[in-house]
Formats: sequence, structure tokens, C-alpha cells
Amino acid sequence: MIAPALDSEFARDVWAGLGRDGQKTLPCRYLYDSVGSALFEAITNLPEYGLTRADARILHKHAGTLLDRLPGPLLVAELGSGTGAKTSAILQRLRLRQAVTYYPIDVSGAALASCAQCLGPLAEVVPVESSYLEGLRVVAARRAPGETLLVLFLGSTIGNFEPAAALDFLGSVRLCLMNGDAVLLGTDLVKPVEQLLAAYDDPAGVTAAFNLNLLGRVNRELGGDFNLRRFTHLARYRQHEQRIEMYLRSRVPQCVRIPAAGLTLGFAAGETIWTESSYKFRPDQISGKAAAAGFRLVDQWIDAEWPFAENLLVAI
Ligand code: AVJ
Repeated sequence: MIAPALDSEFARDVWAGLGRDGQKTLPCRYLYDSVGSALFEAITNLPEYGLTRADARILHKHAGTLLDRLPGPLLVAELGSGTGAKTSAILQRLRLRQAVTYYPIDVSGAALASCAQCLGPLAEVVPVESSYLEGLRVVAARRAPGETLLVLFLGSTIGNFEPAAALDFLGSVRLCLMNGDAVLLGTDLVKPVEQLLAAYDDPAGVTAAFNLNLLGRVNRELGGDFNLRRFTHLARYRQHEQRIEMYLRSRVPQCVRIPAAGLTLGFAAGETIWTESSYKFRPDQISGKAAAAGFRLVDQWIDAEWPFAENLLVAI
């Protein structure tokens, strides 16, 4: 099929993901409109979803040690706009040593604004509204001689990338950096399947709502007529790939129209849309990936309660 001329990137991605033969897909980055971001925030508070708390606990406990590994004046950049608990642990500690300039990088102006509000008291916050790599180039160009750049990439966001794309991305980050610069990379670790399934299919249905909202967003922004009640949330774990997969499954045979994406779709009963992959890691897998991207893994901290690792990578 020839791609129609479509107005927005969202429309083009929806057309490409849903308007094809075989497994239908939607990119997970579209989960985060204002409703989706609020639902994700709720997820991070669920008892079954220990990831975000583990990330924050490690930073609280080890921020001092990690900063001791990076001598000299530091500039802190973050891929994604940080919120209180995690990033503040680092900024608080660094403040004992120097005046801090912090560059949150995000495509969402709203997320940047709330980040600046939250972390403003701890540092001079310079929001950078752009994609991660473009933003990182902007930040790197602003550094003074002798300053070391610390890039935070927390929350296991790297887990949303396919392995090859993750390496590619880390390699591109490396190209923005100088020798001795650092990346603090958060990675969720493999754990018992039941624990993972509960985290991605919580009994209160918050993750289900987060996933279903993607169809709501297609309706709101592209004039779609998805009936959200005719789809269910599905999470499964693929042991060999070490990833959680999330799907939306059609309960019944149905037809859906999405005018702004130029689509009229048929769904068979049970047919799925694949909406997210969330890769999990073994602690010993990180150093190889780091090396392949031009970094050395100099330290790794693992939470005792929820298997999650904070990895300190230094550019070599
Ligand atoms: C923000 C990508 C780390 O994969 O755990 C949470 C997103 N999806 N529940 C994750 C998510 C479903 C989350 N990351």
C-alpha cells in the first residue's frame, strides 16, 4: 500500500503500525500524553511496580559514592525530565561540592516545566526542549573547559529499546561526550515471572488503563472510533528475549475507523496490537553493552528489595 499524505508524525506512525498485514503495533512513546503521563505516575506508586522506588532508593543510598567517582566540576544533564525523588538525591549531594547547573532534556514542555518547579531550588535548571540526542549536543556545546558531563538516563527507559537500537543509542550518546564523561544508566533486572506479570498487569487495573489510553489518544487526536471497552490489556513475559510485552487485545470481531490516519481496520476476535516491550537485564550483561558503545562500567549498584541496577558508565 502507498502511504497517504498525513498531517502529523503520530498519524503516520499509526498508519504504519496498524495499517499493515500481520502483527499490528503502536510505538510506546505515544503512551505518554497528559492522561498517559498521569497514569504512569500512578503506576510508579503501585505496590506491584517496584521499579521506580528501587531506582530512587539506590540513588539515595549511593549518590555520595557515585559522585566521588567523578572528580572536578560536573555538569548534570538528564535524558527525560526528572522528578523529585530520583534526581534530587544527586543534585542535593552535588550541591555540597559546587554550584549545580542541571539540564533536563525532554520533548515535552509541560514535563520540563514541572521538573523545573520541582528541582529549581536545588540547581540552576536549564530546560532543553528537544529529542535526547539533539539536546545532549546542545548541552555538550555549552560546557566550559575542564567540566565533566554526567548524563542521567534513569528509570530503565533504555528497556523500551530493541537491543540493537539500545546499543546504537548508547553509541550515539557516546559521540556527544568526551573521554571521562559519564552516564548513569538505570536498568530493571530479570526477576521471577510472577513478579514481572504483577508489575505489568496490576490488579487495580492502572496499567490496563495506561495501555488502553493509547486507543483513547488515537480517538482524541486522530478522530478514531475505538471503543475501549472492546479491548483488553494483556501482558506477557518472554523468557528468551528477557522482555515484557504489552498488548491490547480485541474482545470481538470489529471494525475501527481512524480518519486522520487514513485507516479503516478490521480486527478478528483475539487479535492484538503490540504496544510496548520492556527489556529486563542480568547484571553481568551491562559491561559488554557498555564496552560495545565506548564506555567502561566502573560501578554497579543493585537494590536489595527489587532487582534493579544503577550502572555508572565512563566514556573511554
Ligand atoms: C518507563 C519504560 C521504564 O517499562 O516499566 C510501566 C513503562 N509500562 N508499566 C517500564 C511502563 C508499563 C516503564 N518504563
